[in-house]
Amino acid sequence: MLWHTTKSNGQSASLWKPLFMLLTIFATPLTYAANAEAARVLELSDRFLEVYNQGQWLVMFYAPWCGYCKRTEPIFGQVAQELHGLNIRVGKVDCTRFTNVAREMQIRAYPTIMFLKGNAKYVYNGDRTKEDLVDYALRMSGPPVQMVTRPESIDMLKGSHTIFFMYVGDQQGVMWESYYAAAENYQQYGFFYATTPDIASQHFEFEHLPAVLVYKEELHHLYPYAHVAHEMDVSAINDTIHHWVNVERFTTFPKITRFNIKQILLTKKFLVVAVVEEDKLNQVATHELEFRDMVEGVIRKHRDRYHDTFQFAWMGDPSLAHSFILDTLPTPHLIVINSTTEQHYIPDDEPLKMTPQAIHVFLESIHNESATPLGGDTYLVRIRRVFFEAKKGLLDMWKGNPVLTTVIFGLPCGFLSLILYSIFCGDCFVANDEDDDHEKTE
Ligand SMILES: *[C@@H]1O[C@H](CO)[C@@H](O)[C@H](O)[C@H]1NC(C)=O
Ligand SMILES: *[C@@H]1O[C@H](CO)[C@@H](O)[C@H](O)[C@H]1NC(C)=O
Ligand SMILES: *[C@@H]1O[C@H](CO)[C@@H](O)[C@H](O)[C@H]1NC(C)=O
Repeated sequence: MLWHTTKSNGQSASLWKPLFMLLTIFATPLTYAANAEAARVLELSDRFLEVYNQGQWLVMFYAPWCGYCKRTEPIFGQVAQELHGLNIRVGKVDCTRFTNVAREMQIRAYPTIMFLKGNAKYVYNGDRTKEDLVDYALRMSGPPVQMVTRPESIDMLKGSHTIFFMYVGDQQGVMWESYYAAAENYQQYGFFYATTPDIASQHFEFEHLPAVLVYKEELHHLYPYAHVAHEMDVSAINDTIHHWVNVERFTTFPKITRFNIKQILLTKKFLVVAVVEEDKLNQVATHELEFRDMVEGVIRKHRDRYHDTFQFAWMGDPSLAHSFILDTLPTPHLIVINSTTEQHYIPDDEPLKMTPQAIHVFLESIHNESATPLGGDTYLVRIRRVFFEAKKGLLDMWKGNPVLTTVIFGLPCGFLSLILYSIFCGDCFVANDEDDDHEKTE
């Protein structure tokens, strides 16, 4: 057999067994719920290397000891459940047992999630949520541009996707080719469709053909150069459509996570980020929510004014923001990041007292370059970053396990201070003696 399901994998690591038993005692309700779904995830072995290029695979490469893998596992089970019946096989490989697979697939981090199609391998770098993973697998399994042949299909697309791209018109010529190339390049990040003017006109407004548009959060926006593409330089049209797709693939006010931040920085816009703090249940305190909503309101009401230069967003994890400003700030707060230079701006105003008007003034001063940027990717900042990350790492370690941290850093420090004490204290005593002598002679 090429693979066996999770349950028959009982013998894997006998060392882990007692630990697992302990865990199951505490996690029984969860385990039961997850088991039915997890059973759809194929547990792959070395022989995966012989079949990975046949058909389509969504595979998680994991290590049993990795905490992120454990957290992703139940989600992956739900993804498998959702994709059941489609021709995408969902599996996972224990890289500590099947090191050949890990080597061949060049796995450098756990978990790594990949989509494999023929000989093409794509590493997933989005959020590890069920919705995002399912969307990703669906996108990757089809051709880069999918044809829409019925008007009702567009209603379905509107219902199921927050964002999608649509080409309207003859599927030939330079605009079509450039659209197709952009779709190939961004297939991992967006849905791309094409349809006829008849079908499209029942849903979207456009004056010229061909038309390219993005549907986003119940509105649609046109790519401005589609109908003049034939008059433009081929490389210019290719560059502008790539650029347009690159910036339009984000929602108006996305949540920035450690997974998508690299992609959002690629917009090369100023990122205007409302930083709040989510607790473990993804809840945000009311006053922080109000602040976030106020910032969101600014871009929703003034898209035309800001869309070209500013990408608005929010963060639920302040430590992400801290790694830009190399400092900590209480939440909520606002930071603006120049995505080219990674320099940042922080308003002087007390965030909770900020009004939309104050934000307008603040953004205007960034736009007209009268505000002074801080930080960035200079040599000095890089050194500061190393110290900041080290300090943060130590603090996180301390929060996670104070005893262990004390042992690891405390013991060597203890020895060191003993050694230092024995070296210097001879001197101390001498000095004291001399002092005493002085007093006596006076
Ligand atoms: C089109 O533009 C993209 C991004 O700018 C580039 O990667 C790609 O090579 C270009 N393709 C052609 C055919 O010029
Ligand atoms: C970022 O900073 C660079 C260098 O100062 C500047 O050229 C660019 O316009 C700024 N803005 C954005 C959105 O990148
Ligand atoms: C830049 O914008 C700010 C805020 O609106 C304004 O006070 C300042 O005068 C502007 N500076 C320039 C050089 O236009």
